[in-house]
Amino acid sequence: MSKVQVIAHPLIQHKLSILRRTDTSTKAFRELVDEIAMLMGYEVLRDLPLEDVEIETPITKTVQKQLAGKKLAIVPILRAGIGMVDGLLSLVPAAKVGHIGMYRDEETLQPVEYLVKLPEDIDQRRIFVVDPMLATGGSAILAIDSLKKRGASNITFVCLVAAPEGVAALEEAHPEVPILTAALDERLNEQGYIVPGLGDAGDRLFGTK
Ligand code: PRP
Ligand code: URA
Repeated sequence: MSKVQVIAHPLIQHKLSILRRTDTSTKAFRELVDEIAMLMGYEVLRDLPLEDVEIETPITKTVQKQLAGKKLAIVPILRAGIGMVDGLLSLVPAAKVGHIGMYRDEETLQPVEYLVKLPEDIDQRRIFVVDPMLATGGSAILAIDSLKKRGASNITFVCLVAAPEGVAALEEAHPEVPILTAALDERLNEQGYIVPGLGDAGDRLFGTK
């Protein structure tokens, strides 16, 4: 069974189309990534556990629901994943944030890990790995390998644009990890870029090219 879920809310699709445009500025790109991540948050967090709580309204005592306070962690893959953190944190401000630094070698397209800094109790947390792009899948797979090596088990991957090749590779490497994306694009090109995609997410987010 495929674990990929496309979160295709009209607001997300509209904002994603602006994000993809070549003439979208760095400032607008950053704002849009933040907004889309927050909008995706409603679906991403839809199965957070609830517990009963007794409260008093002006009318009566009643038993209602509150979040069960399960420990969460948001783990962006640097650099571009950073752009998705604040949008999710605005919904779950108590979540801890870990960082995994990784870049794709431009020749081989293989990911190279250069930083792993995680909450100490990462093995006890529900983890959302975030990165705008799932292209070959190499970066996501290595990031999740890295988390599992440190005892993590409850992991969801959240991206904005996925290629079918990346989805297939991630599903094969980590079949139990749900993949949530705002769009599933056509394919990868010869350089490993997603088509139609949005270009290099890190460069567009930070204005480095
Ligand atoms: C981009 C993107 C992903 C990766 C996806 O990062 O943010 O991490 O490529 O490609 P893959 O699925 O083929 O691994 P990049 O390597 O460009 O690093 P950057 O964010 O530092 O620019
Ligand atoms: N990384 C990106 O930033 N964009 C792509 O299209 C593929 C990998």
